[in-house]
Amino acid sequence: MKIIIANDYEDMSRKAANYLSAQVIMKPDAVLGLATGETPIGTYKQLVEWYNKGDIDFSQTSTINLDEYKGLTGDHKQSYRYFMDTNLFDLINIKKSNTYLPNGMAKDEEAECARYENIIKELRNIDMQLLGIGLNGHIGFNEPGESFEKTTHCVQLTQSTIDANQRLFDEGDAVPEKAFTMGIKSIMQSKHILLIANGEKKAQIIRDAFFGPVTPKVPASILQLHNNVTVIVDKEAGKLIK
Ligand code: F6R
Repeated sequence: MKIIIANDYEDMSRKAANYLSAQVIMKPDAVLGLATGETPIGTYKQLVEWYNKGDIDFSQTSTINLDEYKGLTGDHKQSYRYFMDTNLFDLINIKKSNTYLPNGMAKDEEAECARYENIIKELRNIDMQLLGIGLNGHIGFNEPGESFEKTTHCVQLTQSTIDANQRLFDEGDAVPEKAFTMGIKSIMQSKHILLIANGEKKAQIIRDAFFGPVTPKVPASILQLHNNVTVIVDKEAGKLIK
């Protein structure tokens, strides 16, 4: 595992964007696994900037996202589809038909999970998977538990995750309590994993995940067993591992 301590959020974002753009330049039809949340916003901004300069061409690239809230339509402002469209897909030349997220409106949870697994299979694994990390160590919406869930599944979000996400929803708008998420096996089968984290509030979980025991109680700790992981943190998130 390679751990890079960046100076600040901008530096972390630029470094992560460098890895992703190098992947697309080396393999134009790469499959990128993508994340939402606050952490990757700067990374996507940087990719859009380089795209506008003519440095990256996404016309052959496919993307598959980690997760989506259950019960939100793609045009709901808090849906992950809306996030990806507005922060990245609408701003670059990727074909929308090559961008995949779980369908939050799917009624049949099992059928939706099977459909998503099939897409991952058809894409023949992810070349580079971008990950954030939750305060409780979740990756995607793989929440702490008694075992690592392997494949795409529908989860009941923990109260700490619901509370952490509340800030993003309008007052009176309830945070969904369930989400579809890619499983640990699909994440672990990615050829290269890029995890980014910033800010002091992530310092403890960065230490627990990468310097503590591998346990489903800290889902990100499984990444210690992957042979090609790059963790990029800013100084604050990295302050307990120096
Ligand atoms: C989002 C996702 C989540 C986030 C995590 C951190 O697609 O998979 O695991 O990466 O909740 O969120 P932020 O970046 O908002 O701190």
